[in-house]
Amino acid sequence: MGTGIAQAFLQSGFDVVLVGRSEESAKKGLDLMNAGISKAIAKGSLKESDRNNMLSRLKVTNKYDAISGSALVIEAVSEILESKISVLRECEKYAKGSLIATNTSSISITLLANSLANPEMFIGMHFFNPVPVMKPVEIITGEKTSQKATELAFKFSEMCDKTPIKVKDYPGFVANSILMPMLNEAILLLEKNVATKEGIDAIVKLGLRHPMGPLELADFIGLDVCLDITNSIYKATKDEKYKPERLLVEMVEQKKLGKKIGEGFYKY
Ligand SMILES: NC(=O)c1ccc[n+]([C@@H]2O[C@H](COP(=O)([O-])OP(=O)(O)OC[C@H]3O[C@@H](n4cnc5c(N)ncnc54)[C@H](O)[C@@H]3O)[C@@H](O)[C@H]2O)c1
Repeated sequence: MGTGIAQAFLQSGFDVVLVGRSEESAKKGLDLMNAGISKAIAKGSLKESDRNNMLSRLKVTNKYDAISGSALVIEAVSEILESKISVLRECEKYAKGSLIATNTSSISITLLANSLANPEMFIGMHFFNPVPVMKPVEIITGEKTSQKATELAFKFSEMCDKTPIKVKDYPGFVANSILMPMLNEAILLLEKNVATKEGIDAIVKLGLRHPMGPLELADFIGLDVCLDITNSIYKATKDEKYKPERLLVEMVEQKKLGKKIGEGFYKY
């Protein structure tokens, strides 16, 4: 998601700093971004000449001090509360006065804000995958988010050619509150041999007119990411419909994490 968000802002003419947690992960970010740009060129939405232009406005680093002076900082690390808090605190240290946003899928904005020195300038901006293509951004305010921060989040989303939509600080917000029980149900149906994985996906695509089947979509999101999101919503709501299915837990334990590693419900 980090590289997708960076690509979308580069495409809209922004200067972007992409911070990885190590030199290796920063380099992986650059490779992923180049692959994303190649995909957009192949589809005709970008030209080869756009690549150089975009990459000339990109800085890739593992040093947080590179974000100082940025108007907007977006955190997109794993959906783990402790990781997000430690990364957000680092961001606050170096980007004083900037709007700091989290791309969390499910964690409370007020809860994250409670660990920060300037909760007024902190907000949720939940982008959708793949970011360069998908239009909506869920904008989630915490109890202390200022009006100025909210207006800036809307403005930056629109400048990045997105459609910002205000959403309450509720576990999973709108998208994942709806999506996670559906993915869980599809995994349960597979576990119970109600149909094959291809059958489940085909019925949802053809019968419910979804562009992707739920098992393909879970692979695309990342099964570890799905597990973290549904666990986080389950912890916050105690609602059984968010309790992760056994098969999902087992697949993550077996490191079958989906498309990003070449194997999930399907092989890639
Ligand atoms: N995958 C999706 O479809 C999707 C969609 C919308 C939002 N999100 C959200 O975006 C965020 C990232 O998801 P993703 O799918 O890109 O996950 P991912 O596992 O592909 O990437 C997470 C990245 O975070 C890095 N990371 C983890 N802990 C870190 C730390 N302490 N410091 C620095 N870097 C750290 C990892 O090295 C990795 O590069 C999550 O909050 C997720 O809920 C995901």
